[in-house]
Amino acid sequence: MLQYGLGIGEDQNWLFSENGFQGELLGKTETIMALGNGYMGLRSSPEESYLKQTRNLFVAGTFNKFDDGEATELPNAADLTEMEIVLGGERLSLESGRVHVYQKSLNLRTGELTREFLWESPKGRKYSCRFLRFVSLDNLHMLGMRMEITPLSGECELRWTSGINGQMTNSGAQHFHEGIKRIYDKEIAQLVQTTTQSNIDFVLHAANRWELDGEPLALKPEMNIGRRKVGMSYSCTVPAASVIAVEKIASVNTSRDAEAMQGEAYSLDMLREKSLQAFRSNFGKGYAALLSDSAARWKAYWDNADITIESEEDGFDQLAVRFAQYHLLIMTPHHDSRYGIGAKGLTGEGYKGHSFWDSEIFILPYFLHTMPSIAKGLLEYRYLGLDGARLKAADNGYEGAMYPWETAFTGKEETPVWGAVNVLTGKATKIWSGFLEQHISADIAFAVVKYAQATGDEAFMDAMGAEMLIEIASFWASRVVWDESRQAYVILNIIGPDEYKEHIDNNAFSNYMAQWAIQATIELCLSYQETKPDIYRRLNETFGIEDRLDQWRKVAARLYLPSPRAGDNLIPQDDTYLTKPSIDIAPYKNSASVQGILRDYSRDQVIGMQVSKQADVVMLLYLLQNRFSNEVKAANLSYYESKTIHDSSLSMAVHSIVASGIGERETAYEFFRQASEIDLGANMKSSDAGIHSASLGGIWKCIVFGFAGIQAENGELSMTPRLPSKWKSLRFPFVWKGTRLQIELTHEQIAIEAESPSPVPIDVRIGHQVYRLEDRLTVSYSSAQGS
Ligand code: BGC
Repeated sequence: MLQYGLGIGEDQNWLFSENGFQGELLGKTETIMALGNGYMGLRSSPEESYLKQTRNLFVAGTFNKFDDGEATELPNAADLTEMEIVLGGERLSLESGRVHVYQKSLNLRTGELTREFLWESPKGRKYSCRFLRFVSLDNLHMLGMRMEITPLSGECELRWTSGINGQMTNSGAQHFHEGIKRIYDKEIAQLVQTTTQSNIDFVLHAANRWELDGEPLALKPEMNIGRRKVGMSYSCTVPAASVIAVEKIASVNTSRDAEAMQGEAYSLDMLREKSLQAFRSNFGKGYAALLSDSAARWKAYWDNADITIESEEDGFDQLAVRFAQYHLLIMTPHHDSRYGIGAKGLTGEGYKGHSFWDSEIFILPYFLHTMPSIAKGLLEYRYLGLDGARLKAADNGYEGAMYPWETAFTGKEETPVWGAVNVLTGKATKIWSGFLEQHISADIAFAVVKYAQATGDEAFMDAMGAEMLIEIASFWASRVVWDESRQAYVILNIIGPDEYKEHIDNNAFSNYMAQWAIQATIELCLSYQETKPDIYRRLNETFGIEDRLDQWRKVAARLYLPSPRAGDNLIPQDDTYLTKPSIDIAPYKNSASVQGILRDYSRDQVIGMQVSKQADVVMLLYLLQNRFSNEVKAANLSYYESKTIHDSSLSMAVHSIVASGIGERETAYEFFRQASEIDLGANMKSSDAGIHSASLGGIWKCIVFGFAGIQAENGELSMTPRLPSKWKSLRFPFVWKGTRLQIELTHEQIAIEAESPSPVPIDVRIGHQVYRLEDRLTVSYSSAQGS
């Protein structure tokens, strides 16, 4: 069972725990308590092995394709954490004997994982055990572990085996060739593994040290090198009530690391040598010092990013936002813009480490307004993927750049073609998203423009953003077809955000967003023409904008945009959605597992119903919020929510934001709470395949764009706060045009403080009035009447 309130003192609302060991449900805490730093992600599997464990170590960007028939994925690197522990001849396993007290906790403040329990062995001998672990935020290649064992029933012979295990697979797919194994100085184990297709070398090191009651201990290892394995076994006698502490320090380096390529030409020998040297000096520091360096980085992160919520209720909401911010940082390869964010971060095999629109629409806004340089890196990743997007467009007979639905390293389409079972035929169902879910191109354009507006980073636009927009607009302008009867351009045979509707025509979300992207590109080109003629000339020479502009204008003016229907204000999700029969979706909506409907119906049957997987029209109401009235928003939110199962974790947060926007405070809070519980909540099966990255970005968005009601439209900042009635105050940082603002809201007033002198004047619209922010602005505002 998970517990949220065990953090005390400075750890209050920073720590959550699992009380009681459940060998069947390991996946939950392996994921939600995962450790990482954006370079690597480590699932928090126990040191001792269990049948239902999923031990994963992923390094961002190290994709490999097992064979032609399978999608490229992040390979599961060699395991560094497993230890076989034998106490007085009995192997430590919490599935045997009795466990008296068990608590596994993650401290979000310091990034340290702890596991403490009292184990009574099958022979009735008692041991007090404590395990600590962190992945360093300071040195991205390092991780540390510490084990403390106290025999309580008399002296005991302790034996443990610890090393590096390269026998790991991704659900059976072994991504690595066997490589060099070596033990240096009877102390440091080194294992090399090379991915089979992408030829990426991994070099891993591990070494142990010991103390008995705080005094260093010298132990002689038994050294073992086996197939894809290197390790050492140690034994010693531990007197009753003494504490033996074992520290294991480990490191991971790969040939894809930016520094591996610096200076001389790359060679594996050089990587082995340099990483060994670095490892030796870090190993010398020991667990406590390495942890303290890492915790100092966490402190700096929190000093910059922490959000505080004062609530009448328990501290769950506070913890939930910190949980989201913790995972947002460790999922994001902030060290290297060649890599994107996986839909499950680096915490599980789910979605194979691929990046989706989740990054731009759900996660990027957090960084854009907290650490904008990271947001820029995420867009650079998309810029580096432009050639892949051009290739996809050309392969499909279109112009410009058609961004893949799922990407890995190369920018090419990586969506698997076959998925889960079709319950009618027993065959695998074809996944059409890689062919037809095309709104991602507009979503990326949207993020580029939002980035430019929030940062004023013209250099980025000149060097990369403009090119992306031009190529995306060209794609859409070639994607539309003319419909004589409608006298409009239309977009046929597409999938919108709602993946339970395939091969549909005129998905409202896709049409509106495509039009938005083309219009934004036209405006950008015109502004270049006026203000930066040199750049305009360069872009025109390379992309022939002048020839393209006419077509863009025609499409932007005449693309069919489904408008709210007279009478009920409903925006048809696509040409046929509202004509389809409805079914009772309550059993699926209330179920603890997702996509249950596909166990009762085939996908084709679901496509024929008014049943939605996730926010689609509601997504549109959020992203282009200023285009729709509150009446339209209310009508569509209520209608489509009643048809939506929320089988995607992206859905709930969006519903919350739209509900906030129309003043439905309680509904907004309810959706926020449900979104917060997707991973952190009590459902012990929800996170087995990895964390729900987008929903964590969504939690931040619910708070900042929903409850605080911040809008950053066309370079203008406005606020319409609607704090949940249970919250007394909310304080969060918000970076806007190079200035870090601290915004504090209560039900009575809004206070905005600029932490440094702003390079440009900052105006904030609150209600109908625009205020100029000098150092500090306080506006009294009854949020109860705030719509
Ligand atoms: C959702 C997509 C999302 C993907 C990755 C799918 O289930 O329908 O919208 O991008 O998961 O999170």
